[in-house]
Amino acid sequence: MAQMAFFELEGWEKSILKKYFPKHKLLFFNEPLAEKHLQQIKNVEILGVFIYSKISKEVLAKLPKLKMIATFSTGFDHIDLVECKKRKIIVSNVPSYGSHTVAEHTIALMLALAKKLVPSIDRTRAGNFSLEGLRTFDIVGKTLGLIGFGKIGSHVAKVAKALGMNVIIYDPYADENLVDLLDCKKVDLDYLLKHSDIISLHAPLNEQTRHIINKETIAKMKNGVILINTARGGLVDSKALLDGLLSKKIAGAGLDVLEEETAIREEKELLAPDYAKKHDLHTVVITHMLREHQNVIITPHNAFNSKEALERIVYTSAENISKFLEGRPQNLVYK
Ligand code: NAI
Repeated sequence: MAQMAFFELEGWEKSILKKYFPKHKLLFFNEPLAEKHLQQIKNVEILGVFIYSKISKEVLAKLPKLKMIATFSTGFDHIDLVECKKRKIIVSNVPSYGSHTVAEHTIALMLALAKKLVPSIDRTRAGNFSLEGLRTFDIVGKTLGLIGFGKIGSHVAKVAKALGMNVIIYDPYADENLVDLLDCKKVDLDYLLKHSDIISLHAPLNEQTRHIINKETIAKMKNGVILINTARGGLVDSKALLDGLLSKKIAGAGLDVLEEETAIREEKELLAPDYAKKHDLHTVVITHMLREHQNVIITPHNAFNSKEALERIVYTSAENISKFLEGRPQNLVYK
């Protein structure tokens, strides 16, 4: 019998896991893993978490029996993998629960900006049917630059092609056959920045991609470019984005992810004694300024959150744990 602890799950997800693991001891917590839970879960061998549970070196040090982490997400930058490797803790993710789910959200943000949906709807709700300031632009014939052409990026490309866009790609590891098959073009980063009308980010967050959108890269973009980010907030230097919007170099941004999004989401975090230590306050303020900018639309890291995708997440995560218990772990994020 293994001890498992799960964080950030809803009632229906807990029922599925209870059915999957009837012979094991399961602990459930609604909220993300925090310091206060560590004593209670100190004997767990398997941990199930979502992205708001930060699995740092310090957290791992307090879970001496931990053998496996199942993250109920694709991204795994909330887990200290170096430390996991050192401690021989296996980490599994859900590689493809909703590539098309996130791609659909990306296209929704792009169309919402192009068609000025948010101000249009706000206005008619207030009983105002004036067209003043609501001129839109056509998507057909525009160039979409994708940074990252993996599962999500390639789905975005497919839909964008159906909308009549030219699609160019910067991804050093892109599948060249798929690039050709979808009638896209692989380019270098400078070319993409210079030629894209809309740039959409679909690369993972790591040391190579952190702040890939910064003051220098923004300077190379077309005037009036639109930026979409449904990948990770850390890909964009928030201050550089705000400056780009204020100077009108960037005409609009559609963001599902933000730097410091945990701090923005949880205002009560502001009251925590070590708040300033854990968060970059400057970035928190910039992010609030982005939120208030009229040409920025923000969704609350909701791109994955479809009914169908969530079901796939729970079943794949349960299967990851099951296979681990059978000694045949799958979907490992490192070998
Ligand atoms: P993937 O691993 O299939 O694709 C990522 C692509 O980025 C790969 O083709 C890789 O070669 C490329 N890449 C790596 N380093 C790069 C670099 N330096 N420059 C350009 N491209 C680079 O991952 P997938 O499933 O397409 O997801 C992409 C990201 O989307 C995830 O890492 C995750 O952070 C984010 N995501 C966001 C969600 C949301 O709800 N907003 C949900 C799911 C994923």
